[in-house]
Amino acid sequence: MLIKEAKNNIGTQATVSGWVYNLRSSGSIMFLQLRDGSGFMQVIVAKNSVPSEVWQEAERITIETSVHITGKVTAHPKQAGVYELQVAEIKIVSVAAEFPIGKKEHGPDFLLDMRHLWLRAPSQWAIMRVRNTIINATYVYLNNHNFIKIDAPILTPTSCEDTTELFEIDYFGDRKAYLTQSGQLYIEAAIFAHGRVFDFGPVFRAEKSKTRRHLTEFWMMDAEAAFVKHEGNMQIQEGLIEFIVQEVLAHNRYELEILERDVKPLEKIKAPFYHLTHESAVKKLRALGSDIKPDADLGGDDETMLTKEFDKPLFVEKYPAAVKAFYMKRDPADSTRVLGSDLLAPEGYGEIIGGSEREDDYETLLKRLEEYHLPRAPFEWYLDLRRYGSVPHSGFGYGLERITGWICGTHHVRETIPFPRMINRLEP
Ligand code: 4AD
Ligand code: MG
Repeated sequence: MLIKEAKNNIGTQATVSGWVYNLRSSGSIMFLQLRDGSGFMQVIVAKNSVPSEVWQEAERITIETSVHITGKVTAHPKQAGVYELQVAEIKIVSVAAEFPIGKKEHGPDFLLDMRHLWLRAPSQWAIMRVRNTIINATYVYLNNHNFIKIDAPILTPTSCEDTTELFEIDYFGDRKAYLTQSGQLYIEAAIFAHGRVFDFGPVFRAEKSKTRRHLTEFWMMDAEAAFVKHEGNMQIQEGLIEFIVQEVLAHNRYELEILERDVKPLEKIKAPFYHLTHESAVKKLRALGSDIKPDADLGGDDETMLTKEFDKPLFVEKYPAAVKAFYMKRDPADSTRVLGSDLLAPEGYGEIIGGSEREDDYETLLKRLEEYHLPRAPFEWYLDLRRYGSVPHSGFGYGLERITGWICGTHHVRETIPFPRMINRLEP
């Protein structure tokens, strides 16, 4: 039996295979907290009602010992929805050595050093399961909206975003390669074959940022669609995020409870989301006390301040072109701004998606490469996309860990990826 199926097995004899993550004993009765991957349940061993060999076996159990336990499934006498196992038999698989993560409070550095073991903690278990739902929901939503998955390469000869954030590697001694920052440019090529595509994979940023929002390796989903303009691009993002949150609410109530995540703000995440131009966002921020300059990008603190004012995600549109990437199409109404948006999650979380309409004119794109001091040769193939049947098109990229962090209510993104990579952390 899987623990999550306990409610359908009340009164029957069942065997659960898993790990004892906590235990206490009063001398004649023992309470074991059992985890099997699907959930958690309490196991009760009563000295008087089991053979002495079973009691002796129970006494060998330490925290994180792996076991097969057989017993009768019962409903908790007081707590609704909680099920227990009344032990008849115990088979130890492996007695665990003293587990380094105890009941006392540990600092984040210790826990991150122990990440391979910390993943077993109920809070970390819950975060990974929400993350899994977000991944699945993304595939379902995009496939249902005619996007197909196209994988982008991880090793690239050029940069997609800011060149200061590139991880450089030696490519067979005679040239340099870079770890991708986003698959966007490559999936743009695939829209000419498939119309709507997305990628989903690890991306890398050699960013020196030491903030609660930054990892050096994280998972990005880039989506790209032909014949979609700036407005339509935001509608796709809105639909996707609404669906993801609804799926988490439908499948992960138990996990959100473990995380003590207030679900009321999540229940409000329904289209339409809010929109502000960058210009109005700056005005609002200045009124709130920020010293942001009119032509500046929003800093992390600005995003926190701004999104505390909103109960749903907020699109900040039309950023100054100078703070955004070369491929973004300019606003015909104001050529100093781009037809792009960042989607900021509420409750202080900030940016979860960056997207834009793409420059689809050959000559203009060529000019942009020059303006951004980017070499032409490695972008020749990207220019080809504007030579052979160019169409208006748009796309966006989301950060999986940022979305998971927001939905789980986790302060730092390092807990939302199994093995975080940050400036000061490459282990375990
Ligand atoms: O805004 P970004 O840099 O956009 C792009 O890379 C575009 N090429 C995407 C596209 O249009 N297809 O990154 C996209 C998202 C951000 O909104 C954020 O959620 C996440 O990726 N992100 C990070 N997450 C964790 N750590 C970092 N260092 C991140 N940098 C960006
Ligand atoms: Mg961005």
